[in-house]
Amino acid sequence: MEKETCPIEIKDLFKQYDKKGPVVMHGISIKICKGEIVGYLGPNGSGKTTTIKMITNMIKPTSGKVLVNGIDAQKYPKKAMKHVGALIEVPGVYDYLTPRELLTYFAKVYSMPKKEIDLRIIEVMSEVKLSAVIDKKIGSFSTGMQRRLMIAKAILHDPDILILDEPVIGLDPKGIKEVRDLIKKQAAKGKTVFLSSHLLSEVSETCDRVIFLNDGKIKEDDTVENINIKATNNTIDVSLLTSVTEKMIQHIGSLQGVTSVTKDNRGVIIYYDGEPQTSHVLLNTLIKTGYKVYSFKPADGGLEDFYLSIMGDEKGVN
Ligand SMILES: Nc1ncnc2c1ncn2[C@@H]1O[C@H](COP(=O)(O)OP(=O)(O)O)[C@@H](O)[C@H]1O
Ligand SMILES: [Mg+2]
Repeated sequence: MEKETCPIEIKDLFKQYDKKGPVVMHGISIKICKGEIVGYLGPNGSGKTTTIKMITNMIKPTSGKVLVNGIDAQKYPKKAMKHVGALIEVPGVYDYLTPRELLTYFAKVYSMPKKEIDLRIIEVMSEVKLSAVIDKKIGSFSTGMQRRLMIAKAILHDPDILILDEPVIGLDPKGIKEVRDLIKKQAAKGKTVFLSSHLLSEVSETCDRVIFLNDGKIKEDDTVENINIKATNNTIDVSLLTSVTEKMIQHIGSLQGVTSVTKDNRGVIIYYDGEPQTSHVLLNTLIKTGYKVYSFKPADGGLEDFYLSIMGDEKGVN
């Protein structure tokens, strides 16, 4: 069998911004293979931008490795980034430039052949539906237009890999749809896409696979299809006569086959591997431990509850 090519591979990344500060990435490993559209989902502060900045070599990992198309991004950044287009944070520093000026500048940064530049700029501006404003000052653009321009910048050199950090954040529904359609169009061309979002709906709508991130750790990594199955089939709703304690939640969470535990008004919701054997052992353990169980039944919490249970509700999803 032909070896699967994975244009993005990160291995055991740790990040601590300041020597005395907290560790914000705790050994993240991710493989993204050719043609995949992968969502990187996590609440604010979970480490999405930090990861993306390490992949694109804007900041250095404290330890760990990033390979882009098999090339070490720290050792050979220029070569590694040659086939990457990235959208990272929305800068306001280009206000006095026009799209044509901005894109011409970046075309040179990307070392694009001189005679292709003018035509390619016209092409990408048409692709993001901004042809009419190619010579207008960027400062006068709406947030949606600016975001589309940044996507034009990311796809300018026709990269195979697109890395997009919160591409729809701050946009209105129309802007969201426009950017989403643009991303899907790029994906349809066979590009590999890695996009971050704090919105579950965004990733479940756009991506094939989702990586759940919380507090700098990966909590789940699976296809949207499998995650949907897990969210609906792998849930047990346990009702208890006594109130739930933190210790109880920790204990249940530590049991074999349990993904996460969340408190609800009558007891706990347990997300587990879906194995009947696990369910059997769980029920036995709860009773043996002395928890006053009065009902133990499968539940359909749906994707939203699954997300909350994995992320913990202390941070929320916004
Ligand atoms: N330049 C920085 N210096 C120190 N800490 C930072 C810096 N950038 C981000 N952090 C911290 O790293 C953690 C992850 O942040 P970030 O990657 O921006 O998360 P996200 O993009 O998921 O919102 C947060 O706790 C944040 O406060
Ligand atoms: Mg961020």
